[in-house]
Amino acid sequence: MSSNMRSAVAISILASALQVNALERRIPDGQGLTPLMGWSSWNVAQCDAASARYALDTANNFISLGLKDLGYDHVNIDDCWSTRERDSEGNLVPDPNKWPNGIRAVVDEIHGLGLKFGLYGCAGTLTCASFPGSWGYEEQDARLLAEWDIDFWKHDNCFTPCDNGALPQTCWSGNIDTRPWYATFRDALIAVSDIKPITFNLCNWGRNSVWEWGADYGHSWRIEGDNWGDWESVIRIGARASTIAEFSRPGGFNDLDMLFVGNGVLTESQERLHFGLWAIAKSPLIIGADLNTIGDSSLTILKNKALIDINQDSLGVPAEPFVPPGAPAPVNGQIYPYWAGPLSDGVVIGLSAANGAGTFSVNFSDVPGLGEGSFSWEEAYSGTTGTGTSISFDLAQDDFVAIKVTTQ
Ligand code: GLA
Repeated sequence: MSSNMRSAVAISILASALQVNALERRIPDGQGLTPLMGWSSWNVAQCDAASARYALDTANNFISLGLKDLGYDHVNIDDCWSTRERDSEGNLVPDPNKWPNGIRAVVDEIHGLGLKFGLYGCAGTLTCASFPGSWGYEEQDARLLAEWDIDFWKHDNCFTPCDNGALPQTCWSGNIDTRPWYATFRDALIAVSDIKPITFNLCNWGRNSVWEWGADYGHSWRIEGDNWGDWESVIRIGARASTIAEFSRPGGFNDLDMLFVGNGVLTESQERLHFGLWAIAKSPLIIGADLNTIGDSSLTILKNKALIDINQDSLGVPAEPFVPPGAPAPVNGQIYPYWAGPLSDGVVIGLSAANGAGTFSVNFSDVPGLGEGSFSWEEAYSGTTGTGTSISFDLAQDDFVAIKVTTQ
């Protein structure tokens, strides 16, 4: 072989090795294989709920309300848990008024209950509520989190560089590549994973089409701006999820944001649609309500075992819209009436009345993953069961049903 040919072969071997590396997941395997389930302080009372009292109350409520038995295990504290300044050694400091015994003592107590603890931070110089961010402190912060034995970290994107290098609280410019910040923190977490493996959530509000690369950086990624606790947010986020199902898989899931079920802002039908859609879309299911005061009907929705089982199915593939014969095409920004997705032992069909009340009928032969023949099915909210070749449900405005069709 000539030396030219040898170097051509060497280059091509190097190129294929690089390609393999580029395709490899760079986050540790074995974490986040199903969507995360838990609670977060933010939708409860924003900064005011970022305290030891809320964390411990929630942990105890997980047990007394039967939520732990259903899989809710993460108690996540969002923005505002720290003081406004780092200490003289550059460490983040838990606010002593909110965490009188520090973070680690609470983590230990929560672990003692068989539960997990999550915290929030930011890629920028400040968090979205202007507490210290991790910019320039990534390795130090990751080490502290591992030493505190935390299980989950949500990494936000406020006060990061925008056009012209400005550091605004919020930058929506599409010219800015947010990937390097998430790579830096991912690598900082990997570097301390021998002390503690930490599940990593990317909160960049869907910038740079995060669903296309998020699985290489973290275990879940926010696909949209915030769920503000209004019906329009549920529609906006649900509509976005309907177009990007293909990117969610075990180990890396589209995150539709924390729930507003039990916050007194949605009707009962809307709460059913919100929870049902998040569940079949394989979003993390993060309760955003105060569990000390939550109403019965909301708690019943959050405790729906059939939907939780669908969300946690080992296949980890989200449902997405399908168009039955004669049905109108999906419209951007709306929640389509007909959804379906595969399960390890069947198919889930979701029917949404977000665009209006009516009778929704589906022949199983038109559903992706099903076909000709008779199937047994069960609707998650009512428990109605049946066997046959089709289903039909009357739904009130904004209501939702999820039908599990068993194929095995
Ligand atoms: C951003 C995030 C929210 C929440 C707040 C906290 O808006 O998207 O989920 O964490 O910051 O300030």
